Amino acid sequence: MIENNFHSVRPVFDPQTKHVFIETYGCQMNFNDSEVVLSILQGAGYTLCDGLESADLILVNTCSIRDNAEQRIWGRLNHFLQEKKKRPALLVGILGCMAERLKEQLLEHKAVDLVVGPDAYRDLPRLLMLLNDSGKQINTKLSHEETYAEISPVRMDKNGVSAYISIMRGCNNMCTYCVVPYVRGAERSRDPQSILREAREVIANGYREINLLGQNVDSYRWKNPENPEEILTFAQLLEQVALVDPATRIRFATSHPKDMNDDVLHTMARHANICPHIHLPVQSGNDRMLEKMNRKYNRATYLERIQKIREIIPGAGISTDVIAGFCSETEEEHQDTLSLMETVGFDSAFMFQYSMRPNTKAARHFVDDVPLETKTRRLNEIIALQNRKSLESNQREIGKIFEVLIEGPSKRSDEQWVGRTPHNKVCVFTAKDKKTGDFAKVRVLECSSATLICELVNE
Ligand code: SAH
Ligand code: SF4
Ligand code: F3S
Repeated sequence: MIENNFHSVRPVFDPQTKHVFIETYGCQMNFNDSEVVLSILQGAGYTLCDGLESADLILVNTCSIRDNAEQRIWGRLNHFLQEKKKRPALLVGILGCMAERLKEQLLEHKAVDLVVGPDAYRDLPRLLMLLNDSGKQINTKLSHEETYAEISPVRMDKNGVSAYISIMRGCNNMCTYCVVPYVRGAERSRDPQSILREAREVIANGYREINLLGQNVDSYRWKNPENPEEILTFAQLLEQVALVDPATRIRFATSHPKDMNDDVLHTMARHANICPHIHLPVQSGNDRMLEKMNRKYNRATYLERIQKIREIIPGAGISTDVIAGFCSETEEEHQDTLSLMETVGFDSAFMFQYSMRPNTKAARHFVDDVPLETKTRRLNEIIALQNRKSLESNQREIGKIFEVLIEGPSKRSDEQWVGRTPHNKVCVFTAKDKKTGDFAKVRVLECSSATLICELVNE
């Protein structure tokens, strides 16, 4: 019987239900990990709340990639300490890469009750129980096997359009500047059957786009445990995911220039639902720097990869990451980065100044000797060049028609939608009869360096 009574439709306050608030920093993989954590915590009786004011437990999933990422977290911890003064029963846990890097050092902060590394999330319910009885807890054990394969992440994105699926964890590449191999452990690939099951699950739940995630997706390799001769590569996995539903868009990141092979490109070209966009971090345009970074490719082989992308997938979007001012970088070497960016004409880029990470090979063996002002000036030159290139790339789209997947209303106006083209350009347009999650055909009218301004084309 449905009672039409006001009180019966109000949520009943359950004093047993514990509320968790999760704050996430860093890369897409960290966001996906928070969804795994939520799934584990729901199993332990926690419900997600959308503000820290109503939380019994605050979890911060942290990033260590650059020093400023960590500084932000220290700032948050001081804020949580103020919150704890008001509510002494509040618990605060640090998860993720900074938990793994700093371990007990984080427990020393008055605000912190719990420190859990990226491979130890299954232990959260036990640690939370112990926390109540015995005080502060920590588990930062890394694993060679953990992929959280059978855990269905509880999606935390707001729009229900695009779902992240992690296909691997860790990294073995040991780029000399990078902290990831230390905080995420050794690379391991996830069982393809669990990936395909998750893909079917998110599609059944209405998602229209799947983002396959790994630090270096090209080194995905799954050995069939029953027949170790049988190996599944990334290109093959990508194809299997694409075949699950031809109406679902597939994206992936990150590709590594030393490993991205033509098989992947041909697979992309064969399947209309695999988005023609590749994120291919270059880091530097100079061979001595690339060698010193241990990237295992050089300028010529990087440019050859770009050539192949353009040959096999005409019109593909190409984006990159760049680091300015790595150890001992000279002015000429910086110019090589600018000239490579000029030659390639990336559609977009994430650009950083080098930040020394303790205990990495660069920190142990090289000197962080490019003065801060020089790093900043070089970064600004890189950004200015990229803005010009992004604008040029967007101007070439004017007049073209694209199919856009609507991600939600635009930040500036509720009357406008924001979505992406298959090659990953952000579009803004008006369409009265459309909604989040719909596909729309649009024509590009004008642009800025970041956005295409479009109109709906009648289908
Ligand atoms: N796995 C990806 C990138 C992961 S980190 C890859 O190999 O390409 C994302 C980006 O952060 C890197 O591509 C790099 O450009 C930047 N980055 C990593 N460590 C850095 C550091 N110590 N200082 C500045 N930027 C860094
Ligand atoms: Fe870091 Fe290099 Fe691994 Fe990317 S490939 S996560 S930059 S070590
Ligand atoms: Fe940061 Fe860890 Fe990702 S260091 S970039 S959150 S893997």
